[in-house]
Amino acid sequence: MFAMIIEETGGPEVFRYAEVDTPAPESGQVLIRVACAGVNPADWKNRQGHLAQFRPYVFPYIIGFDAAGVVAAVGEGVQNCKVGDRVFTPTNHGQGGQGSYAEYTIASADRVAHIPPSLSFAEAAALPVAALTAWQGLFDRGGLQSGQAAMIHGGSGGVGSFAVQFAAHAGARVAATCSTPNVDYLRSLGVERVIDYRSEDIEAAVRQWAPDGLDYLMDAVGVSTLPRGLDLVRAGGTFVSIPTLVDDGDITAAIAAAQDKGVNREFSIMDDNACATTLEEIAGLLQRGAISLPPIKEYDLRDVVAAHEVLQRGHNRGKLVLCVADIDAC
Ligand SMILES: NC(=O)c1ccc[n+]([C@@H]2O[C@H](COP(=O)([O-])OP(=O)(O)OC[C@H]3O[C@@H](n4cnc5c(N)ncnc54)[C@H](OP(=O)(O)O)[C@@H]3O)[C@@H](O)[C@H]2O)c1
Repeated sequence: MFAMIIEETGGPEVFRYAEVDTPAPESGQVLIRVACAGVNPADWKNRQGHLAQFRPYVFPYIIGFDAAGVVAAVGEGVQNCKVGDRVFTPTNHGQGGQGSYAEYTIASADRVAHIPPSLSFAEAAALPVAALTAWQGLFDRGGLQSGQAAMIHGGSGGVGSFAVQFAAHAGARVAATCSTPNVDYLRSLGVERVIDYRSEDIEAAVRQWAPDGLDYLMDAVGVSTLPRGLDLVRAGGTFVSIPTLVDDGDITAAIAAAQDKGVNREFSIMDDNACATTLEEIAGLLQRGAISLPPIKEYDLRDVVAAHEVLQRGHNRGKLVLCVADIDAC
C-alpha cells in the first residue's frame, strides 16, 4: 500500500509518500481501506517526537489516529462488522499500531463504529478523537448536568466545536472563549456567552456571567492561556483539562490546589471506554440534527504538510481531514 511515512521525527519536511507493506488484521482486529484520515494536533506533536515518552518510534512510522473508510478484511472473532461496511474509528495508533495516513489501517473491533448513511467519509473522519475527547471530558470525567454553567476554553477548535454543542444539548448553560474571527461561529453553535479572549478579560466576563463561579470548566487549549482557571470554578465544581503534551504545567500541583479548594480536577486523556457506542451515539445526534458538524477543510494526503502547518498555528476553526482514496465521494 502507499502511505505518508516518516523515517525520523521532525518538521513537516520529514513526510514522504512511499510504498510499505499492507497490514493484516489479527484476531479481533479490522483492516480498513481508508477513504479519509482525520488530522489532530496530536499528529504534529507525534511527528515532532513528543510521543516518545509513551512508546518507541519504529521507522517507517505512519502518523494518524482518525480514519473513515470501508472494512477490507476482519480477523478471527470479529462480529460487529463485515467486509464492505462503512466505518470510522480512532484506530489502534494510540495503542502503538501504525496510523491512518495510509491506504489501509488496523483498528480493534471494539474501536470500530458504523458511519450513518447521511455522513460522508470526510465528515466521519473528522469525528473520532475530537468528539470522543469532548464527550469524555464533559460527561465521563466531568459529570456535566443539565442547568449547570459550563465554560469551554478554546470553543472553536476541533474538541471545542463538539464540546460546546454537547454541553448545550445536555441542557447546560454554555460560555466559551475564542478569538475575534470565531465569535459569530460560536454563537451559531448555541453558546450563550462568547468571550473574545483578544478583547475581553476572561475572568471578569466569567464573574459577570456566572457570579457564583462555574460549575464546569474545560481547558482545551493549554494552561499558559488560562493560568487562573481554578479561580473561575466554584467549590464543588469540576475543572477538566485536555492534556496537550506541550502546555500542561505542573499537573500534581494543579490537582493539589484544586483539592484545597474542593474542586474536582481532571486531566482527561481520550480513552477507549465504550468508544464505538459513543461514536455511534454522536453520529446519531448529527443525523437527527441535534448538533451540527464543524467546518471541515479537506486536503489530499500528499498535501499533509499544508494541513499540519495550518493546525500547528493553533487557530484552525473546526477540523481538517486528509483524503486518501476516492472510495466514493470522499
Ligand atoms: N490528550 C488527549 O486525549 C487529547 C485529545 C484531543 C485533543 N487534545 C489536545 O487538546 C488541544 C485542543 O485540541 P483541538 O483538536 O481542539 O485543537 P485545535 O483544533 O487546533 O483547536 C485549538 C483551538 O484553540 C484556540 N486557541 C488558541 N489559542 C487560544 C487562546 N490563547 N485562548 C483561547 N483559545 C485559544 C483556537 O481558537 P481561536 O483561533 O479562536 O483562538 C483553536 O481553535 C490540543 O492541544 C490537542 O493536542 C488532547
